[in-house]
Amino acid sequence: MKPINPSSPVVTLLEYWESCGISHLTADDPQDWTVSEPAPSAQVSKPLRAAPVAMVPPSGPVRNAPTARPSASISVPQPVLANQTTMTTTRRLSDAEKVQELDRLRQEVLPCQRCALSASRIQTVFGVGDPTARVVFVGEAPGAEEDKRGEPFVGQAGKLLDRMLASIGLDRGQIYIANVLKCRPPANRNPAPEEVALCQGFLFRQLEIIQPVILFALGRFAIESLLGHTGPIGAARNRSAAWRGIPVVASYHPAFYLRQSSRKKDAWDDLQRLEELMTEHSF
Ligand code: URA
Repeated sequence: MKPINPSSPVVTLLEYWESCGISHLTADDPQDWTVSEPAPSAQVSKPLRAAPVAMVPPSGPVRNAPTARPSASISVPQPVLANQTTMTTTRRLSDAEKVQELDRLRQEVLPCQRCALSASRIQTVFGVGDPTARVVFVGEAPGAEEDKRGEPFVGQAGKLLDRMLASIGLDRGQIYIANVLKCRPPANRNPAPEEVALCQGFLFRQLEIIQPVILFALGRFAIESLLGHTGPIGAARNRSAAWRGIPVVASYHPAFYLRQSSRKKDAWDDLQRLEELMTEHSF
């Protein structure tokens, strides 16, 4: 038998699942710790998602929205959070218009000097992925590696985000990733309120152009910008919430799971919620 390459994507994925407490594929006595009271459907292992349709490079050409297999899911309606206004954009943009408008906005962001972060940054970090994506992940702000490379989530937190995406059969070419801030705060400090106030309009315009179907908010600042929720992240998770009518899955930031790996089960739960929404929206 061929030896298993320990750095293969499959091994990485299994390790991630195990770290989330899901051991169907690896343990002698498998159990899914993400399910406290197993529902009948939860006893059937979910089939693996088919391979993603195609990889799209960060600034690559437009392609159709990703397809996804249906998955068994249970929706638990929860109280609704703020910002439930409807989308301000009046008409659907064509794929070509989305590419064009996003590029126009990128050119506007590139030389931005609205706040003092422009003096310390190497470059602005606009966003990456499919301009026609149906799912947009929103992070906080670029870190050192992102500042160097001009792409969001390419450091350690980004590697974990890639594994999180892979665990539900997605890759960064099938979604879009953007941050609340487009410039790195020095020493990776938290974004200041005035920086958020000056910059989040760029994020909102990105979302108005992309017109996604689902948003996934990574961490406190994304949750605050999209939902106006300023309390603990735990209070925003597992709730029906929306930004201008687009459902938002509120989750912890991947950097949090790097610090507290025992909490990765929460990431798994939130990714399951994303899958449920994708199924509800006939992905
Ligand atoms: N953390 C973020 O929130 N965004 C990035 O792009 C990288 C790390």
